[in-house]
Amino acid sequence: MYSELTLLRAEIERDIALITDEDSLEQFKLKYLVKKGAIQGFIERLRDVPKEHKPSVGKEINALRSLAENFYDERKTSYDERRKAHVELIDVSLPGRRCTPLGSIHPIQQTLDRCITIFERMGFSVAEGPDVENDYYNFGALNFAPDHPARDMQDTFFVRSEKADDILLRTHTSSVQIRVMKSQKPPIRSIMPGRVYRNETVSARSLAEFHQLEGLYIDRNVTFAELKGTIISFAKEMYGGNSKFRFRPSYFPFTEPSAEVDISCYLCNGKGCRICKYSGWLEICGCGMVHPNVLKNCDIDPEEFSGYAFGFGIERVTLLRTGIDDIRLLYENDVRLLNQFR
Ligand code: PHE
Repeated sequence: MYSELTLLRAEIERDIALITDEDSLEQFKLKYLVKKGAIQGFIERLRDVPKEHKPSVGKEINALRSLAENFYDERKTSYDERRKAHVELIDVSLPGRRCTPLGSIHPIQQTLDRCITIFERMGFSVAEGPDVENDYYNFGALNFAPDHPARDMQDTFFVRSEKADDILLRTHTSSVQIRVMKSQKPPIRSIMPGRVYRNETVSARSLAEFHQLEGLYIDRNVTFAELKGTIISFAKEMYGGNSKFRFRPSYFPFTEPSAEVDISCYLCNGKGCRICKYSGWLEICGCGMVHPNVLKNCDIDPEEFSGYAFGFGIERVTLLRTGIDDIRLLYENDVRLLNQFR
């Protein structure tokens, strides 16, 4: 029986080496560890072993059983763990992992981009100037007399500076007109988008910091009719072909004659509603023929050249384009709003 047990040990050890998966492990169990298995058979035969050999034979049988059992338990645990980990790895019931959310272009920038595309197609090029200006570029050169009440039209943020007392945040992009006219010779055909600042009470309709897009065209024999044509074709592209327009006489120190342009209300089609304050019209821009004094200030001869200028509020255009009815929403950056205009 000793030799049989030696053979059995060799067989168990060989079988152990051959076990590669759960199926072969279960076969191993059936072969050695069940009631009718190989080891149990030896236990039953122990009865017939002579008394003096019983302890050593019994010991060897126990050792073989422990060998098989321990191996089985250990390997089973490791297979179970591996299966569990695998299931966790591909748990199809888990919600999908979101990819990193994509940002999008802000509605204000979308409006700016669209305006720029439309004007570029008409032959305008983009010019820029500084946000921090001095009185000369923002007012003086634009024909605002020092004590002219028109300076009060725009409540200005002044900047405290040791070098000068006339530093300010530009109140309109018209300051860039001066910079462009001083640095280029006519013909000039530029648009000037940018941020502007006014000491205004923030409300649903106005902000203290907003964007404008200014246009300037200087050449020989430029007429008011061209100004009208340019603004109307821009606005029709921006708002759709069915809109109606009206030019109302107005006043700006740097243009003469001056006008403000209204578009028929997009919401009520001119019938009158809350958005257009029951007038049927919405103001979209200020414009006019560049004042001769402004041309002179920039060393352009008003006898030889004439030109027009216009200025839009980009936030205003954005509200009209999107139907958003409170300008402040544009600056809250609430993704629930922004996601609607991706
Ligand atoms: N600068 C003016 C404003 O801010 C708009 C304007 C621009 C008017 C150009 C006429 C010509 O209100």
